Amino acid sequence: MIGIDIEEVKRFNKYLKNSKIIKRIFSQEEIDYSYSKKNVAQHLAVRFAAKEAVWKALSSKNRKIAITDIKIINNKYGKPEVFIKNKKNTKMELSISHTDKYAVAVAIFS
Ligand SMILES: CC(C)(COP(=O)(O)OP(=O)(O)OC[C@H]1O[C@@H](n2cnc3c(N)ncnc32)[C@H](O)[C@@H]1OP(=O)(O)O)[C@@H](O)C(=O)NCCC(=O)NCCS
Repeated sequence: MIGIDIEEVKRFNKYLKNSKIIKRIFSQEEIDYSYSKKNVAQHLAVRFAAKEAVWKALSSKNRKIAITDIKIINNKYGKPEVFIKNKKNTKMELSISHTDKYAVAVAIFS
């Protein structure tokens, strides 16, 4: 199964002023990674897009999960990897890209 999502970065620029929203959506690792970069909102936006794409790629029986159950962590090469709470054996491939305006993600569940 495949999933895709696109987000507008400006929405996440607004969220930067509200740490409660940020903490409700993202894990501490995702927050730390994004804030270590120059364009924080782009990295948050693409992680949100990634979570949505992952959710779309899951089969309907596996979709009873919260957005915070899906974590996007970059490996040592910079490639983003997907971790889903209580689903250790879920094989999910993810690719993400972002510009000033948009953040996109594609996920494939095999
Ligand atoms: C890593 C790279 C592909 C990112 O591309 P970019 O156009 O700068 O930026 P994009 O917005 O498209 O992608 C950024 C995302 O790529 C992902 N990425 C980084 N390294 C990666 C890797 N080794 N494998 C897969 N994805 C990677 C990250 O998730 C990053 O987003 P994040 O920092 O928010 O997690 C690029 O910097 C690079 O190294 N390019 C070299 C490509 C090359 O040699 N091309 C010539 C042959 S085609």
